[in-house]
Amino acid sequence: MPAVGCSTLVSCAAGGTPMKSPAQPEVTRDGVLAWEDEVVTYAGPRSGWTGSVDEDLAGRTIVPGFVDCHTHLPFVRWRDDEYEARLTGRTYRDLHGEGGIHRSARLLADSSDQEILDFCHPLLDEMLAHGTTAMELKTGYGLSVEQELRQARLARTMADAIPQTCTLTLLACHAVPDEWDREAWVETVCRELIPQAVAEGLADAVDVYVEDIAFTVADLERVAETVAGAGLPLRVHADQLGHSGAAEAAVRLQARSADHLNHIGAAGVRALRQGSTAAVLLPASTLVLGATAPPVAALSEGGAVLALATDFNPGTSPVLSMPEAIAIGCALYRLAPLEALAAATVNAAWVLGLENRLGSLAPGKRADFLVLEGEDFRMTPYRPGHNPVVRTFVGGVASG
Ligand code: NIG
Ligand code: FE
Repeated sequence: MPAVGCSTLVSCAAGGTPMKSPAQPEVTRDGVLAWEDEVVTYAGPRSGWTGSVDEDLAGRTIVPGFVDCHTHLPFVRWRDDEYEARLTGRTYRDLHGEGGIHRSARLLADSSDQEILDFCHPLLDEMLAHGTTAMELKTGYGLSVEQELRQARLARTMADAIPQTCTLTLLACHAVPDEWDREAWVETVCRELIPQAVAEGLADAVDVYVEDIAFTVADLERVAETVAGAGLPLRVHADQLGHSGAAEAAVRLQARSADHLNHIGAAGVRALRQGSTAAVLLPASTLVLGATAPPVAALSEGGAVLALATDFNPGTSPVLSMPEAIAIGCALYRLAPLEALAAATVNAAWVLGLENRLGSLAPGKRADFLVLEGEDFRMTPYRPGHNPVVRTFVGGVASG
């Protein structure tokens, strides 16, 4: 049975449930992690380990593999020109149409399956090298029933070819397709797209982008009805560019998560503190958009479930590195390093419904773990722009 020793072990074990802020994961100095057949058999102090140790990772920290619970992969091609335009006077809202989601949809439709896979695979490798061992994939650049299903199938094809565990979220309500009436599109999503995706096994969750340039809280309620009928978890892009009340609606509709939250109001904060919907923080998109930070301290002090992810997409967050997202989260949102770690592992796994298999290091969990530089996890947020991941293990096997 392989076993490694390390200076510090942060297992993030919380008994399969998410960790409610401001609780922080326990730190074990001088730890041992052992596993067999892809599964953890021991994670704890060296004093409690009776077996031998194959390798001593002195000066290193072991943590669970990062779970990126909000990405917009698969997509194809970048939109760096839009970033420059936004830095020189344009806004995300006014680029929506000629640019933005609609442009990524055109790029997807104009690319072959192989071109899309060839674009994504090096990015997935880079994510692995930065410690992402599980992630969400989303649709949302289809903007038609056929292209949404195509993007979902491509996501599954991609997932089958990589070591990371992936879940697939249908973000069919991301932008109103050209020449469609908004409500008619929502009906088509509910009556055609979701049932077809479910029949083909292409949806692990459904997401709705609630925004003045996208969909309304009433649209969210309509989709929630269909999603509940299909027995799928609901996710919500909530209060990102402006306030809509989507965060409190997400809690009321028992969504698994409300994501972004830059413009959440007092009612939304109250709801997330009391409910079981996770607040998914996406600080890289806040940085790239130059947006207002959400009231993270109010959420954290009030016992909300915080998760943290990259939001990796070509518009608002061309950031695929979880260490970078954690570093930005600590700097901009004033998260404590270990609070950010729990948000990026055990809580993120809960958002994706994977908490029984991964996201923490405890007997029975998958041996997805990272060897990080330094004797303290705080080295990760302390050095933005530096990759602290020395080795990534997926199912007990070192990759890369
Ligand atoms: O989460 N704002 C909505 N969706 C994405 C951005 C998509 C894009 O610009 O391509 C987000 O930020
Ligand atoms: Fe997003």
